[in-house]
Amino acid sequence: MDTKSLRSRYEELVVEVNQHNYRYHTLDAPIISDAEYDKLLNELKRIEADHPDWIAPDSPTQRAGAKAADRFEKVRHPAPILSLANAFGADDARAWYERVRKLDERVASAKFVVEPKIDGLSVVLHYRDGVFVQGATRGDGEVGEDITANLRTVKTIPLKIPVTSKQSSVVSVPKYLVVRGEAFIPVKEFEKLNEQLAEAGEKTYLNPRNTAAGSLRQLDPSLTASRPLTLLVYQIVYSEGGEVPTSQWELLQYLKALGFPVTDVAKRFDDIESAITYTETWNKRRDELAYEADGMVIKIDDLNLAAELGFVGKDPRGATAFKFPAREVTTKLLDIRVTVGRTGVLIPNAVLEPVEINGVIVERATLHNFDYIAEKDIRVGDRVLVKRAGEVIPYVIGPVVDVRTGKEKKYKPPQVCPVCEQPVEHFEGEVAWYCVNAACPAQLQRNIEHFVSRGSMDINGLGFKIVEKLIDTGAIKDVADIYTLTRESILEAVTKKDRKTEKEPPGKIADNLLSAIAESKSQPLPRLITALGIRGVGEVSARDLASHFGNLDALSKANADDLQEIEGVGPNIAEAIVDWFKRPANQKILKKLKAIGLWPVSNVGAKGLSPEGKLTGLTFVVTGTLPTFSRDGVKEFIESNGGKVTDSVSKKTDYLVLGENPGSKFEKAKSLGVKILDEAGLKKLAGV
Ligand code: IVH
Repeated sequence: MDTKSLRSRYEELVVEVNQHNYRYHTLDAPIISDAEYDKLLNELKRIEADHPDWIAPDSPTQRAGAKAADRFEKVRHPAPILSLANAFGADDARAWYERVRKLDERVASAKFVVEPKIDGLSVVLHYRDGVFVQGATRGDGEVGEDITANLRTVKTIPLKIPVTSKQSSVVSVPKYLVVRGEAFIPVKEFEKLNEQLAEAGEKTYLNPRNTAAGSLRQLDPSLTASRPLTLLVYQIVYSEGGEVPTSQWELLQYLKALGFPVTDVAKRFDDIESAITYTETWNKRRDELAYEADGMVIKIDDLNLAAELGFVGKDPRGATAFKFPAREVTTKLLDIRVTVGRTGVLIPNAVLEPVEINGVIVERATLHNFDYIAEKDIRVGDRVLVKRAGEVIPYVIGPVVDVRTGKEKKYKPPQVCPVCEQPVEHFEGEVAWYCVNAACPAQLQRNIEHFVSRGSMDINGLGFKIVEKLIDTGAIKDVADIYTLTRESILEAVTKKDRKTEKEPPGKIADNLLSAIAESKSQPLPRLITALGIRGVGEVSARDLASHFGNLDALSKANADDLQEIEGVGPNIAEAIVDWFKRPANQKILKKLKAIGLWPVSNVGAKGLSPEGKLTGLTFVVTGTLPTFSRDGVKEFIESNGGKVTDSVSKKTDYLVLGENPGSKFEKAKSLGVKILDEAGLKKLAGV
């Protein structure tokens, strides 16, 4: 190839590779394979190696630049980079509207554009003759920092606009164009990044915003390149030598046509009320956005009108930020307290200076486990970032290291249980620490709570306070002692507790409790196995264990291999079961239970002996409330007639037993064509 045609081939390649980049990163719609892309890029690189003087500033190879000096140069923005005034709620937004309408009557007939307010970092991008020449941070709004080399590494920032040749024929680009957008890290990418860092044993980041900000202010662009940064563009800050739209709505379409990434959530409305309604729907749907949004921006569509309205300080009157309720706040970590869970697991909890998050006062938050505290270097006295979102229990994200005074105290996990003061243990492969003392009052308390709960032995009347007293007085030392309680020991505990909250006389309480305890003795084997509180053994595995082994004698002799024969019992659960039965304290419990005659034999029978019934070989799923059967009652009915009950609907399900107010299982069953029965139908099928 002669030099001239090689040069034109090179120029062609620059355009082509940039277009594929755009399709891949911005549109998410590649038209060639990775291998084909690599081939083109390699060809381009080879030419550049032979002709370094040809290298174009918008060549895809120019994304990774050289390390900057020890600081960033300053850049004066061609026009002020403004901020936004906040509105909290619909009334605030209406008040903004009224204010501007009074200033200018044209506002009354104005249209509004609503866009997500991305919680990222404002960046300003300069294009000369369509080529990306400079990028800056917002700084103080007048002067920012030159982070061009870093921004070049962001794959969704076009190095040349319009990006595709198709676009070139329909949109024209001003000779000098300065746009503004918000750079950020998508939530999923952020989580992935933190997982990778944690795996590599490195410090994880607090939130996407801080990470994005930190990544863009790196002096080494190769570090920025390794961060999953992207951006959305929403404003033209300045233009010279060409026309640009004067409506915000058209401007977004225009920026998109040039090849910039632009939000697809934006909408235009004819009146303020519909704009507010749209904003509010996104408040509820904010988790559907790929990025963190701290609100929506309502903008007057007519940009000339908006500009004429002027500013208040740095806030333009022509737009307002409709803020979503905060989910993250900072507060002081006053103390770390450790509680003991049922399995003996030690759980560190943060005691916080009370703070409001989204209408709720938060004083406690979880710290997950001791590794988490160490990994995040969370110290008592730190200002910490706390998050409360949706149904999740509030948790501490991490410390705000920059405001440390030096008085914060590093935290050392306890070496003994905070309740019984026995040494704590750590199992290989687990992050948690455990109190393994079966007689630990804290554990005992939780064990009993679990033993008497609805899905277990279902003993009404053994509430937290009574149990606490019964442990205190020494009447209960393990769960089996529930069955040796006397009227006197109960009366002693009842009179000792806070009488004011009791409506019934102590004698009545004691009698009721004794009869509830007596009644529980006829609970079937699966209930008793659940009640024992073996780590990992819930109601479903308890049922399987009961039908496989038939009684506690057989179960207690099973080794890990026997146990793993059961579907759903993996090596961890098997080991936990073997371990539970090995412990002397638990053997003592079993002995006591046997002595009092609490030794149910499964009505289903040991493996191979399951009763032949009309339902043998059939698998059932139950959903909704049935007229006479309880949840457990229906399971027992099906099993005692030879059938099997599972939790979720699959192609293997033979029947769905349907009650009132069914859950999603109903839809699933219908979509899979599973046969549906009501309670009467089930009884008929079983032949009763
Ligand atoms: S418009 C005149 N639109 O929010 C233009 N800002 O709290 C004023 N932001 O400094 C900004 N998404 O960094 C605008 N769709 C969006 C935005 C947005 C995020 C940021 C921006 C601004 C801050 C104001």
